Amino acid sequence: MSSENGFATRAIHHAYDPMENEGALTPPMHLTSTFVFENAEAGGEMFAGERQGHIYSRISNPTCDLLEQRIATLEGAEAGLALSSGMGAVTAVLWTLLSPGDEVIVDKTLYGCTFAYMRHGLAKWGVTVTHVDMTDIDNLRDAVSDKTRVVYFETPANPNMRLVDIAGAAEIAHSVGAKVVVDNTYATPYLTRPIELGADIVLHSATKYLGGHGDVVAGLVVGTAEQIAEIRLIGMKDMTGAVMAPFNAMLILRGLKTLALRMDRHCASARIVADWLAAHPAIGTVYYPGLVSFPQHDLGTRQMAQPGGMIAFEVNGGMEAGISMMNRLKMIQRAVSLGDAETLIQHPASMTHSTYSPEERAEHGISDGLVRLSVGLEDVKDILDDLEQSLPPRTRHAAE
Ligand SMILES: Cc1ncc(COP(=O)(O)O)c(C=O)c1O
Repeated sequence: MSSENGFATRAIHHAYDPMENEGALTPPMHLTSTFVFENAEAGGEMFAGERQGHIYSRISNPTCDLLEQRIATLEGAEAGLALSSGMGAVTAVLWTLLSPGDEVIVDKTLYGCTFAYMRHGLAKWGVTVTHVDMTDIDNLRDAVSDKTRVVYFETPANPNMRLVDIAGAAEIAHSVGAKVVVDNTYATPYLTRPIELGADIVLHSATKYLGGHGDVVAGLVVGTAEQIAEIRLIGMKDMTGAVMAPFNAMLILRGLKTLALRMDRHCASARIVADWLAAHPAIGTVYYPGLVSFPQHDLGTRQMAQPGGMIAFEVNGGMEAGISMMNRLKMIQRAVSLGDAETLIQHPASMTHSTYSPEERAEHGISDGLVRLSVGLEDVKDILDDLEQSLPPRTRHAAE
């Protein structure tokens, strides 16, 4: 399959030839923990790195290998690595890149468990974690120094949708020899390809859009072949052991086949829902890069092919009003995670971001009234109808 082929074609065909696999249209699943050596010398040569081949599934596995090649081509990277979860990806990458005494600069807004890992994990091992508001890239320029080894951010960020200028961050980080690591979970490579904008490493919670069906927890990383080999052998094999199971690799491979199709639908519906929410009298601020009122709308237009399927918003009346609206929903499901066929809603302050203290949430721009919506693949009219019946009735004046 040529790398000239389009995104959807590569997501379906890349790196697999049925004729090399008994004609099987769908790649076989290699449910094996270990691999047999032709002879003892061959085994020794593989351990010495002098011969190609699989040794043990905590290092590599053919089903995971196919997924790794697929995500690498979709992200425009040399190589990929499959891990057991998004947090497995975050920790394997950062344990590999950082040593005591190093500094990692991170954005103000991070997914709750990533924040907890930075605050309570990395910091415990002598790594300095500095939070910078990267929505203004000059703040990053002022913060970097020769101690900075890694610049890390999500764009859009979970949960408040803040964006970071990837090309700007890469230029600043590289000026001090630091690596840029981007969590691309919200955008997926269909909307944003950070490597093409200068990032060094991209990681995903593949649990979300890449899997797309809410049936698997998984993580993926891409970068140069050299970096990925290092993360595989240090961060994954030895430090975390966060290996993806072949069955899960198969589920993600299946999800990737429809990624382009699903993202088009997620984005088209989310645009409609965001406009609808922004016009509703019971809703305060709506955070969605596709809205002209979104403070970073221009950056979103430049950096994202479409504004994505995630929306954050405030219900007038604060946390109490938001919770009671969530409790009245009938079709939309109250659940964490995102990127599934089902529309999901959650309250970051009490759920995904309860790893922040109330003071930290206030400081990091995650308000108590914020509600996060992952717009699913249902008929958009049904999503709007469910939202409408969950909100206070419009006054006659407001409805006109
Ligand atoms: C942006 C982001 N990164 C990383 C993770 C962690 O991924 P996982 O739950 O697959 O470990 C999540 C999970 O919600 C996330 O939203």
